[in-house]
Amino acid sequence: MWKPDRHAKKPLYQQIAEHIEQRILLGELPPGSLLTSERKLAGQLGVNRSTVVQAYEDLRASGIIESATGSGTRVSARKWGMAPRATPNWNRYTEGGVFLPNLPFMRRIREGLQTGLPFINFASGELAPDLSPNEAIRSLLKEMPFEEPLGYGDPQGFAPLRAALSGFLKERRGIAATDESILVTSGSQQSLFLITQCLLNPGDAIGIENPSYCYSLPMFQSAGLRLFGLPVDRDGVQEGDIRELHRQHRIKMVFLNPNFQNPTGTVMSEQRKTGILTCCEELGIPIVEDDPFSLTAMEGTAPSPLKMLDRSGTVLYIGSLSKIAASGLRIGWMAAPQTVIKRLSDARQQMDFGLSIFPQWIASQLLLSGRLSPYLQNLQERLLYRRDILASALDKSLSGMIEFHLPKGGLNLWGKIHEPVNDFRLLENGMKQGVLFVPGSVYGSEPGYVRLTYARPALDELEPGAGRFSEALRLTLSGR
Ligand SMILES: Cc1ncc(COP(=O)(O)O)c(C=O)c1O
Repeated sequence: MWKPDRHAKKPLYQQIAEHIEQRILLGELPPGSLLTSERKLAGQLGVNRSTVVQAYEDLRASGIIESATGSGTRVSARKWGMAPRATPNWNRYTEGGVFLPNLPFMRRIREGLQTGLPFINFASGELAPDLSPNEAIRSLLKEMPFEEPLGYGDPQGFAPLRAALSGFLKERRGIAATDESILVTSGSQQSLFLITQCLLNPGDAIGIENPSYCYSLPMFQSAGLRLFGLPVDRDGVQEGDIRELHRQHRIKMVFLNPNFQNPTGTVMSEQRKTGILTCCEELGIPIVEDDPFSLTAMEGTAPSPLKMLDRSGTVLYIGSLSKIAASGLRIGWMAAPQTVIKRLSDARQQMDFGLSIFPQWIASQLLLSGRLSPYLQNLQERLLYRRDILASALDKSLSGMIEFHLPKGGLNLWGKIHEPVNDFRLLENGMKQGVLFVPGSVYGSEPGYVRLTYARPALDELEPGAGRFSEALRLTLSGR
């Protein structure tokens, strides 16, 4: 028979309580069963009665057992008290819920990053730490006292930030948006999420660019949407394809990333922009314009947004600080008709009561300070420098095997490999060589394309990274 260990550090009463609880969990003492009386158990275990009294008291307090005058002490029959520490079947739970798992390639890349191994990272579409405006933010934090109330804020966003964004959009993007028609989000990703969850219904058909960042997001499938591709050529998508998707599938919305498209780097021509807007107005199809990259324009001025031409409230415009300042700030925005903004703000209240005041305050200070312009100019120059280093390193080591069109903005090189290549093998070989990148099929393209970001690795990793990628490609093409 089990006996408590008198030499253990744990008090005797606690050992007894845990032992009884264990027997209940194992089903040896089912709900409702009568426990041995305190006096008898004390005798069996060779302890003082008061020790057993204390053990039972503990179990009673946790609801595991209950006592009634005249009928002794029993294992609690109440459900919550029956097996308080039984491990739930988490596998069943984790297969539930509305979110589909991320794409296997994306999970593999994330696993790679989580190993902490020194991969050269051409996969994460974001700025390297030294490209972010840390210096400007540090100075702002020193100069500007933070005096904002720390209560729940407005789920539509911190009013001074919305006012700053209204000025920023007017000045930098030619977009007229009042503070009331702006929603602050935790990045473009959240804007896309709110749109898919609040403005569309399961079963709705939508048009997305092919290839497109959207294909890398199971978020669209999780919302039950049916996705139809709009081919992207050198000038973006074509009006005729939108009309055709509308005729065939009655698409409810079109998602576009017209400037420095992710992953191709394409800029939609002005003529196409006008044509597509007119076509969508005619068909009554809203356009989601995802515009995170325009201000990274490395050669010439930033291309204009569709929203600038929008006079009918057709375009839901989304932007973010992620690609032009820092992805970790988690600051994004949406400019849209007020009815839409009100609906989405209401949803924000249910989701998270809005964004933390700190990043919003920092973003408002950054936008209002004179520091943004010189920072952006410097960023554009440094991106251009990086783009050219990576492109020429790849050219040198892989000339004739891979083809790039140099993007004039954005963070990525999009390459077409001339020989057929297995995406999966290529990534695995890349990981063995210590380099990460994103196979094109993640963006919905056929195998044989690859996206490499020149913004994320350290500057001195670009050339060695190109070497590692070349080695991985050669190994894959040689069938290894
Ligand atoms: C085209 C595009 N849209 C949206 C996002 C999401 O950006 P964030 O949520 O960081 O603003 C990304 C990130 O890679 C992107 O490339």
